[in-house]
Amino acid sequence: MTLSLVEAAGANFRTDEESDKLNTEFMNRLGMRKRYLPARLAIARSLAVIAPPSAPPDEADPGKSIKGDTLFGTGTTLSVWLALIFERAGEADMDVKKLISLVGAHWRRGLQLLDKEWEQAERDVARFVKRIVDVADLPTSGKGTALAGTGTNASTYSTGRLTIPIGEVAEDVSTKEKITWEMNGPGGSPHSAIMGGVGSGKTRTAVAMLKSIHEKADVPFIAFDFKGDLGTDASGKGYHLDRVFGARILEPPREPIPLDVLSMQSPDDIDIAEAASRFRESFGRLKGSRLGDKQRTALHEAASSALAVHETCELHHIGDALVDLYEDREWKEDGAIATIKEICRFPLFEPQFDPASFFQQSWIIRLPPNVAEDSRTIVVNLVLDALDQYLNSLTDADQSEDGSRGLRIICMIDEAHQILGTKLPSLSNLIRMSRSKGGAIMMISQSPDDFSGEDDDFLSEMGLVAAFATNAPPKNATRILGKGANLTALQTGQCLAKRRGDQSAKRIKAWE
Ligand SMILES: Nc1ncnc2c1ncn2[C@@H]1O[C@H](COP(=O)(O)OP(=O)(O)OP(=O)(O)O)[C@@H](O)[C@H]1O
Ligand SMILES: [Mg+2]
Repeated sequence: MTLSLVEAAGANFRTDEESDKLNTEFMNRLGMRKRYLPARLAIARSLAVIAPPSAPPDEADPGKSIKGDTLFGTGTTLSVWLALIFERAGEADMDVKKLISLVGAHWRRGLQLLDKEWEQAERDVARFVKRIVDVADLPTSGKGTALAGTGTNASTYSTGRLTIPIGEVAEDVSTKEKITWEMNGPGGSPHSAIMGGVGSGKTRTAVAMLKSIHEKADVPFIAFDFKGDLGTDASGKGYHLDRVFGARILEPPREPIPLDVLSMQSPDDIDIAEAASRFRESFGRLKGSRLGDKQRTALHEAASSALAVHETCELHHIGDALVDLYEDREWKEDGAIATIKEICRFPLFEPQFDPASFFQQSWIIRLPPNVAEDSRTIVVNLVLDALDQYLNSLTDADQSEDGSRGLRIICMIDEAHQILGTKLPSLSNLIRMSRSKGGAIMMISQSPDDFSGEDDDFLSEMGLVAAFATNAPPKNATRILGKGANLTALQTGQCLAKRRGDQSAKRIKAWE
């Protein structure tokens, strides 16, 4: 290390002139009197992102400088800033020149991020501040549970048996007996599927079960919400799962998902090739992108090179690599290029947390119909891929003395038929493999028929299947719930439920 605190304190830091104007703009917006205040905010904001910032373009004019001891203070304060900057850069060998250009780049990127957030907060200082605070919600401040760090031994969040009532009432219609589901018992499966027609009570039942799980174990939670009713909406309505789990609601692309979604275990050739293949599979599921052989090869090449070059690879890196590759070969733009441009148009992800930190917090990802279909599909695919990768990199979840499996995360997909049509390999992988790793998947769908298109028989892997009434008599009801299962005869609030190991389905009053 060839840098002293004295040197850093005496150095002159600057960003480019354009960014400097934005810096002044932020002084006005936030009523700050000193130039270094928005600069500090911007640098801190940029440091919250894992990916390295890019330098200002060469031709950019430099802005006015701020001296190191003004920008960062002195003594401990200065040391902390430098430590954060070096840690993010992952570079031990830092000299004053490198530091100056790195700070300039963070300053610039930070201002751009803040500017976007300012617009999203509709130029309202209070809302802007709230957003910044949300961004700064680092995993260590997550509610209650200690973070076990990254790596193979992430802690589990539950001990002992989780015995969950099936719905709000959970009563056998004929015997009036209380019906519960032992979600993590030995030999069982923690996954569940809830089906039924519009307004039949699927979400309500799932929410009652999730609340019961949360009362017993502070497990992180991630939900894909296609209808937008799982969290609390702007008018205070909804199922309030954000409040129950302390979950943050995200709505990409308005608000990118702060996950390093293409993160790899290691940057060796095999991992890169595998990650590129996974990306290609996810991408190939998008509507507009029927990939031919030539495109498949090109996409794999582009993804591999982007993953190899960028330590924190983002979607647009792959997009750029693909565009370059087409240009090099003088190929005409085709569906693959159009699709990748489409999903890169707005940032769907921002690499702020690595998967371990991300999946130890709780999130509700809203993907309402006004979000472009390709964006919704790629978000679900890539997040589930990342979850699958993450869980499978862990050692098996702890078991308590009674054989109950500890849980690490609950993943809920409401209105799963929205995506089941796209046959997600990561979803079937998650359902088959994640049980021993502490993953629990809860799928909600309109009809048992929604599951029948899958190659894997999802439903046979479920620990609990519950079906409410549907108008269209489903073809697959008897296959799933047993002979004689009749979903058209169910009254409001009633479902047929079958737990793994049950001889036959029971008729249960889930809610009144
Ligand atoms: N807090 C509440 N009090 C009274 N009724 C409610 C409450 N919450 C939901 N309901 C009603 O319960 C029924 C079931 O709602 P739920 O949201 O679970 O349906 P769903 O099966 O998920 O339907 P959808 O297909 O519309 O998502 C609906 O008729 C709804 O209006
Ligand atoms: Mg619903």
